[in-house]
Amino acid sequence: MTLPLAKPALLRNQCLIDGKWVGTPAGVVSNPANGAELSRVPEFGAKETEEAILAAERAFKPWAKKQAKERAAVLRRWFELIMANQEDLARIMTAEQGKPLAEARGEVAYAASFVEFYAEEAKRIYGETVPSPFPHSKIIVQKQAIGVCAAITPWNFPAAMITRKCAPGLAVGCTFVVKPAPDTPLTALALGLLAEEAGMPPGVLNIVTGDAVAIGKVMTEHPAVRLIGFTGSTGVGKLLMRQAASTVKKVALELGGNAPFIVFDDADLDAAVAGAVIAKFRNMGQTCVCTNRLFVQAGIHDRFVEAFAKAVAAMKVGPGDAEGVVQGPLINANALAKVERHVEDARARGARVITGGARHSLGGTFYTPTVLTGVNTEMALSQEETFGPVAAVYKFETEEEVLRLANSTPFGLAAYFYTKDLARAFRVADELESGMVGVNSAILGNEVAPFGGVKESGLGREGGRHGIEEFVELKYVLMGGLN
Ligand code: SIN
Repeated sequence: MTLPLAKPALLRNQCLIDGKWVGTPAGVVSNPANGAELSRVPEFGAKETEEAILAAERAFKPWAKKQAKERAAVLRRWFELIMANQEDLARIMTAEQGKPLAEARGEVAYAASFVEFYAEEAKRIYGETVPSPFPHSKIIVQKQAIGVCAAITPWNFPAAMITRKCAPGLAVGCTFVVKPAPDTPLTALALGLLAEEAGMPPGVLNIVTGDAVAIGKVMTEHPAVRLIGFTGSTGVGKLLMRQAASTVKKVALELGGNAPFIVFDDADLDAAVAGAVIAKFRNMGQTCVCTNRLFVQAGIHDRFVEAFAKAVAAMKVGPGDAEGVVQGPLINANALAKVERHVEDARARGARVITGGARHSLGGTFYTPTVLTGVNTEMALSQEETFGPVAAVYKFETEEEVLRLANSTPFGLAAYFYTKDLARAFRVADELESGMVGVNSAILGNEVAPFGGVKESGLGREGGRHGIEEFVELKYVLMGGLN
């Protein structure tokens, strides 16, 4: 394995449980750009997951009882170490995930921003006092860490989805067992090493790799786990929710989307095209907030399609570490098969391929960035998230029509629209059934705002001061006899 790392120790092949690196390297982690083996990681199951949970349970009280300032200092050091190792982490991420190096560097900074933000917030977990209805008494409402948390994280953001879940929980005093996606465990393990170096006590952050079903079952059913956080498909989210019901755990779910991107006739065309390229093609279309449906009003439709297709066709495809590449490979063969199925189905039902529409000549899981027009709601890509580099363009006439179309899905994670009309901006933002709305903006995620969806796109919020609330329980204390 020949990754050029300044700190080779970041490339781990064991799991982190109770402050020890354990397990036999077994499951192959490969580079989606060329299929080469990068490393191997343990294939852990129920037994090791339980050990990690018990370690997190032992670590909980001492960690939660530390002064907020002490937890903040550890998180702050973790943030600094992540940024100091940004380049290495980005190289590991690009190698196992495929995203272009510039995007990987951006994700490392994005991941670090959650750690920095919650290091600051750790000192501001305020409670309240409530006027008591009883004489000589006071009501105090205090916030307490919920306990041991389990996090199941996805392959599309191998670093940021870990820190966005763990940093707020760690800040308030929770401890964690993390299961990264099997395609991308190396970034997670590298983050674990840096957490250890930052002074995170043994058992506070545990990372297990291996059998998703066995690990997920223990995480959702073990009575010591009080919260399960998951980013991934709605189908798996529902399963985890059902399993978590047996011990009435809190669930925090960031699930699938089917994001609309609406361009009104009065939009700034250049800004809308640039926004659509980002909202659709970031991470090769493999983000939960990537637009899945582009609705363009009739008066601007043809001009938009021409400029958009030109920009899409100009995107350089290749291995993520090659100069100038903005589109890497898809994560694996299943992802490629889904993209192909959607394009073939759309074509068979009358869609027009404006650019792309086929595998890329580089082979493997590379797919040519694609723009389709003449798309309708009967097509598979309208009902399901494509999660790939395919832009499906619909033509619409009126605001009422596009709102009906945009909202006609069980999902509601992100929505975007472009307009210069201020009244319309407020009206449409109010009407879209979505947890997040970008108005003349195509990137929603940041550390200060609450990220999350409505309807079948999830429960709870990650990021910002709201993200903390998932990890605390309110305890109401009635202080009597104060006469
Ligand atoms: C996701 O795709 O789940 C996360 C995207 C983001 O944080 O911007």
